[in-house]
Amino acid sequence: MQEMKKEGRYARIQEQLGALLIKTEDPLARMASICAVLHHKMDHFFWTGFYLHKTGKLVVGPYQGPVACQELEKDKGVCWEAVISGAPVIVSDVHAFPGHISCDSRSKSEITLPVFNQKQEIVAVFDVDSDQIDSFSEADRSALTAIMELIYKEG
Ligand code: SME
Repeated sequence: MQEMKKEGRYARIQEQLGALLIKTEDPLARMASICAVLHHKMDHFFWTGFYLHKTGKLVVGPYQGPVACQELEKDKGVCWEAVISGAPVIVSDVHAFPGHISCDSRSKSEITLPVFNQKQEIVAVFDVDSDQIDSFSEADRSALTAIMELIYKEG
């Protein structure tokens, strides 16, 4: 998707999510709504979901798309990289990323972002896979970072 088109679509999604997410403060419900909206509105999202970071594990949470791995091997792959680095990770070709965990052979590129609670602890990782190479860019990183901040926003 072209950067301009992507940015326009994210702007509309952020507006829609802003109105939707104030109906509950429950983080899990907010994560589920974020997945549903993004997955159905962004053409390049093949798998869209959260892995919950609990007791040293990444366990699958709300998601949309094909059936995914339930737990991810510790300190391996693109999701753990977001936990270890504390920052978003963009992988333009998953086959070129050492340790990439493949839950579905159709996935070709990926973005992961850490989700922080109000105490600045990483409580989850947001993960999007595309079935095309090189789908994610600065526009995705920037918009998805802002969307992740809505999960623990008060009021
Ligand atoms: N590819 C991820 C695993 C999760 S699936 O893509 C849904 C990783 O390397 O951590």
